[in-house]
Amino acid sequence: MKIIRAKDYTEMSRKAANIISAQVIMKPNCVLGLATGGTPLGTYAQLIEWYRKGDLDFAEVTTVNLDEYRGISKENPQSYWYFMHQNFFNHINIQPAHVHLPDGANLDAQAVCEGYDSVIHELGGIDLQLLGLGRDGHIGFNEPNVAFELGTHCVELTESTIEANKRFFESKEDVPREAYTMGIKSIMQARKILMVVNGADKADIVKKAFFGPVTPEVPASILQMHPDFILVLDQEAAAQI
Ligand code: PGA
Repeated sequence: MKIIRAKDYTEMSRKAANIISAQVIMKPNCVLGLATGGTPLGTYAQLIEWYRKGDLDFAEVTTVNLDEYRGISKENPQSYWYFMHQNFFNHINIQPAHVHLPDGANLDAQAVCEGYDSVIHELGGIDLQLLGLGRDGHIGFNEPNVAFELGTHCVELTESTIEANKRFFESKEDVPREAYTMGIKSIMQARKILMVVNGADKADIVKKAFFGPVTPEVPASILQMHPDFILVLDQEAAAQI
């Protein structure tokens, strides 16, 4: 585990974007695993800026996102498909056919999950997986006590995640109750993992996940075992380590 400390959110985002850029430059046809949530937004904004300056080219890049709500279509502004296009894909030269997210509109969980694992496999695996960190230690929608050996699967969202995500919906009732997510196994198979964390409200979980025991109670703690895991933190998130 390599820890990179940044003074604030902007610097955290720039350092994370630097690592992703290096990956894209070294291997232009790489497979990037991407994440939604508030934390990676600055990283995407920085990558877009460098793309606009002509320093980055995504023409051969393929992406696979971590997760998607079940029972929501791509056109729904709350879908992760929509989020990724609004905040990243629409602003770079990625080919639409190179973008992958679990199909939230398909309610056949087995078909979606098996299909998604096949896509990742056929792409040759993920070169670099970007992650955020949930306040309860979740990664993707892998909530506490998830089995570490799962590939893509369908989960019921926990109350705390529904609570945290309701800010994006009109009301709490509108938050989908289920999601498709890459499993811990899928994430751990990525050749490189990059996590971005900021803010004082994540300081406790950072300490617990990366300086405590590896346990399914804190899904992110498994990342301690990954051979190439980089954690980029701002000062507030690093306050307890
Ligand atoms: P956040 O979410 O980046 O919006 O804090 C992190 C997560 O739940 O993975």
